[in-house]
Amino acid sequence: MKLDDAQLRQYARDGYLFLPSVFSPEEVRVLTDEVPGLFASDRPEIVREKGSGAPRSAFFVQTWNEAFSLLARHPRLISPVAQLLGSDRLYMHQFKINAKAAFDGAVWQWHQDYATWHNDDEMPEPKAMNIALFLAEVNEFNGPLMFIPGSHVGGRLTAGHDVTTTSYPLWTIDHETIAKLVERGGIVAPKGPAGSMLMFHGNLVHASGSNLSPWSRWVVYLSLNRSDNAIRRHKRANWIAHRDPTPIEAAPDDCLMALAQSRPRAAE
Ligand code: SIN
Ligand code: MN
Repeated sequence: MKLDDAQLRQYARDGYLFLPSVFSPEEVRVLTDEVPGLFASDRPEIVREKGSGAPRSAFFVQTWNEAFSLLARHPRLISPVAQLLGSDRLYMHQFKINAKAAFDGAVWQWHQDYATWHNDDEMPEPKAMNIALFLAEVNEFNGPLMFIPGSHVGGRLTAGHDVTTTSYPLWTIDHETIAKLVERGGIVAPKGPAGSMLMFHGNLVHASGSNLSPWSRWVVYLSLNRSDNAIRRHKRANWIAHRDPTPIEAAPDDCLMALAQSRPRAAE
């Protein structure tokens, strides 16, 4: 999958690209069939919301689930990122499914991902980025990701380490700075069906609100980094900030359907 010139220009200007319905409903189902079981497992890689205990994130899933191990090597996710980062030698810096659970999903405060990658992991340069795949519909009610278009151009902003607001520590940006950025760029919240993809620059400022709707907003995030930009500090657990910079070898494009066909069918 190749991004065209108009998409490359749009990404350079806005800092993100939204690509609706890239994966078919059948491919998405191979993944979503696994999700309730993953979130129910009793593992350190499952982070739960403060108070409700609802699942917030499942980390490192590509190492303990077959379907997600294929997704972590999927060419429709890897190749557009390789194009934008200018290298075919990419490794997984982080892999997570964010649940944003129906009724209980809590906020992600305004932040840049590269602030965390730089401050916690000593990633040398912002040559890493996220690509997200919607595993459920994302709509205006279930806590869509919000972006400030163009907020990546000023580089890394001053951030404070918030370890109290949610169950997950984050380097967050103060309200005054956010207000100024929004005055210039506004806010967008790309929404669409399961199977849609969202890719965004490591310095793009983003956040998401809580989910009061009855619809969980499952999104899987691959944070891909150039192997020549590997992190230099291993302060965070390996399941949060991965340490192996070996370049990913892409799987075949039809890998998810091939997995489904190789499995015995459940009784109808
Ligand atoms: C993130 O910023 O890393 C996650 C935000 C979200 O899933 O809403
Ligand atoms: Mn983020």
